[in-house]
Amino acid sequence: MPIKSRIRTIPHFPKYGIQYRDITTLLKDPLGLRLVVYELFKRYTGQKIDKIAAIESRGFIIAAPLAVQLGVGLVPIRKPGKLPGEKVGHDYQLEYGSDRLELHSDAIESGEKVLLVDDLLATGGTALAGIHLIEKLGGALVECAFVVDLPDVGGRRRLEGEGYSVFALCEFE
Ligand code: PRP
Ligand code: MG
Repeated sequence: MPIKSRIRTIPHFPKYGIQYRDITTLLKDPLGLRLVVYELFKRYTGQKIDKIAAIESRGFIIAAPLAVQLGVGLVPIRKPGKLPGEKVGHDYQLEYGSDRLELHSDAIESGEKVLLVDDLLATGGTALAGIHLIEKLGGALVECAFVVDLPDVGGRRRLEGEGYSVFALCEFE
């Protein structure tokens, strides 16, 4: 599995007991990002997609070259306080505390088909917040695309349970 084998695992980061799946080793490899973009391009080329919504920050790295390759626009879903224009926001719960993502109000036209892109799916909280923002603007989610899925954490189950489609290039236990 050429993509999976290029992802490094750092034990006990950011805290004890967490196996951190680190895509920097995939990106560092001269073929790594190209492989990722090629595999995602193969899946989505020919599909009706108006825009890619990319989640800050690691999602940007994957989404931007894919948007170029597919010939579609990219809209950034950002952490609070980063976007300068009029925006919509969505707050979501973390294990401890809460977080928020924002999207420019004019980023998506009603009825547009949007592909959500991020590097990794864990609990699904981030992706669901992104989906809520897309839907607030009347966009229709095509699918959520990730490089890595951590199925044991339950994000895929959660997203699919709400009727959203999930695609990932590899899984880690
Ligand atoms: C990580 C990862 C995903 C998200 C997945 O991002 O890049 O965006 O967590 O977790 P979830 O499915 O449990 O919501 P992080 O918030 O660490 O920030 P970064 O991308 O800016 O590094
Ligand atoms: Mg992230």
